[in-house]
Amino acid sequence: MQLTVAELIKGDKINQEVTLKGWVRTFRANRFIAVNDGSTINNIQCVVDFEKFDENLLKRVTTGSAISVKGTLVESLGKGQKVEIQVTELEILGDSNPEEYPIQPKKHSFEFLRENAHLRVRTNTFSAVMRLRSLLSFAVHQYFNKNGFYYVNTPIITGSDAEGAGEMFKVTNLDINNTPKTEDGKVDYKQDFFGKETNLTVSGQLEAETYAMALGKVYTFGPTFRAENSNTTRHLAEFWMIEPEVAFNDLDANMDLAEDFIQQVIGYVLENGQDDLKFLDDRYKKEENSKPKQQRSEMGLLEKLHFVVDNKFVRLSYTEAIEILINSKPNKKKKFQFPIEGWGADLQSEHERYLVEKHFKSPVILFDYPANIKAFYMRMNDDGKTVRAMDVLFPGIGEIVGGSQREERLDVLLEKMKAIGIDEKELWWYLDTRRFGTAVHSGFGLGFERLVQFVTGMGNIRDVIPYPRTPQNAEF
Ligand code: 4AD
Ligand code: MG
Repeated sequence: MQLTVAELIKGDKINQEVTLKGWVRTFRANRFIAVNDGSTINNIQCVVDFEKFDENLLKRVTTGSAISVKGTLVESLGKGQKVEIQVTELEILGDSNPEEYPIQPKKHSFEFLRENAHLRVRTNTFSAVMRLRSLLSFAVHQYFNKNGFYYVNTPIITGSDAEGAGEMFKVTNLDINNTPKTEDGKVDYKQDFFGKETNLTVSGQLEAETYAMALGKVYTFGPTFRAENSNTTRHLAEFWMIEPEVAFNDLDANMDLAEDFIQQVIGYVLENGQDDLKFLDDRYKKEENSKPKQQRSEMGLLEKLHFVVDNKFVRLSYTEAIEILINSKPNKKKKFQFPIEGWGADLQSEHERYLVEKHFKSPVILFDYPANIKAFYMRMNDDGKTVRAMDVLFPGIGEIVGGSQREERLDVLLEKMKAIGIDEKELWWYLDTRRFGTAVHSGFGLGFERLVQFVTGMGNIRDVIPYPRTPQNAEF
C-alpha cells in the first residue's frame, strides 16, 4: 500500500507492508534514510541493512534524490520518531548529484534561497510556509462560504485605476518599438488589442461593488498588481488580495467583519496547521534570540497568534491616533523619520507600528481618515473633512487591511470625482450602481501575503509567495 509520510506517522498501519515515495533529506551511518515527501514537516526514518543492499545502489542515496522504498512499518526505538520503515526494497527514482545540488542539509540564508526559489520549497522552513499558505487560503474560502458570501472572479485586465494612485502595469500587444500614433503624436490605443488603454488590476473592488449590489455578500480572492517602486519587506508588485464587499453594511459592520474574519481564519490555522506552526515557532524564537534585546518581539509566534484570536482589536479614530502620536516619545524626541506635525498627516508604517506595538500592544483599527489622503470612493462624513475609511494595523506588519464604507450618494460621488479629475464617462458602469437602487455598502481588502507573513512569522514578504515579483526581479 503506497502511503504518504503524513499517513504513515499516524501510526495505525503498524506492522503492515507499506510503500513510500519521497526525497532523501539525509542518509546517516549507511543505515538511516530520512525521507520527506512534502505531506508534512516530518520526515520518516527508513532503516536499511547495508549488508543486504548493493553498495553502488546505496551510494546513490544522497540528499535530494528521489526514492521509492518498500518495507514494514514498525515502532521506532530511536529518539524523535514513533515509527520507522524497515526497508526490504529500495529503488532510486531520480539521482541528485551531491556535488551540484544547492540545497544541503545545513542552514542556508534566505537571500541564497531566494535566488534558488525553485528549490527552496524543499527546505523545512519554506515547505512549512507554503503548506500554511495553502491552509490559509482554504480557511478564507471556508469562512466566506459558511457566512453566505459568493466568490466573484473580477477581471485581471481592466481599464480603470481603482485606487487612483497611477501605479499600474500597462497591458498591450502593440509593438512598443513602433506604436501607431494619433494625429497629435500620442499612442493610438484605438489600434491596441482592446481598442483602449488597459492595465493589470490594482484591486477588484469596483467590479465587486457591482456584484454586491445584486448578490448581497461577495468576495474576490485573486492576484493584483502594483507598479509602486517600494523595495520594502511588505511590498510586492504582484500580490493576492481578498476583497469582501457587502450590501447594507456600514463602517461598523465592516470593522466587525474584518475582525471576525481575521480571527476565524487564524483560528482555523492554529487548529489545523499545528506541526508547521510549531516548527516556525521554534525558528522564530531562534531568530528573535539572535537580535539585540531591545529589538526582540515580546511574544513568541504562537503566543502572538493566540493573542490576536482571543482579544478584541482596539478601535479608534484617525483624529485620536494623531493626538497620541503628536504626544508620543519618539515624536517629541524626533525619532520618527516622518515627524507628525498635525492633523492631516498621512500615517507611515513607523507610526502605525508605534500605535500597535508600543502604545496599545494590540491590533488596532483606525477609522475616519482625512478625505484627501484616501481614495475617491469612500463615503464622506458629515464633518466634510473625513471619510468612512478603516485600516487594520498589525504588530510587525503595519497595515494588513484597508477598507471603507462606500460613497453611495450619486451627487456627492460625482462632485468628488470631478474635484480630483476622474472622468465620469470612464466609470459610467460604476456610477450606474448609484443610479439604480443605490444602498449603503462597505468592503475591505486584505493583503494575503501580509497575512501569511503574520501567521508564519516570516520577516520578508518575498519569502511567503512562491515566486516574488519586485522591482528589478521577475526570475522564474
Ligand atoms: O489599502 P489598499 O490599497 O486597498 C484597496 O486596494 C481597496 N480597494 C480594498 C477594498 O476596499 N476592497 O490595499 C489593501 C491591502 C493593504 O492593506 C495591504 O495589506 C495589501 O492590500 N497591499 C499590499 N500587499 C503587498 N504588496 C503591496 N504592494 C500591497 N499594496 C497593498
Ligand atoms: Mg491602504
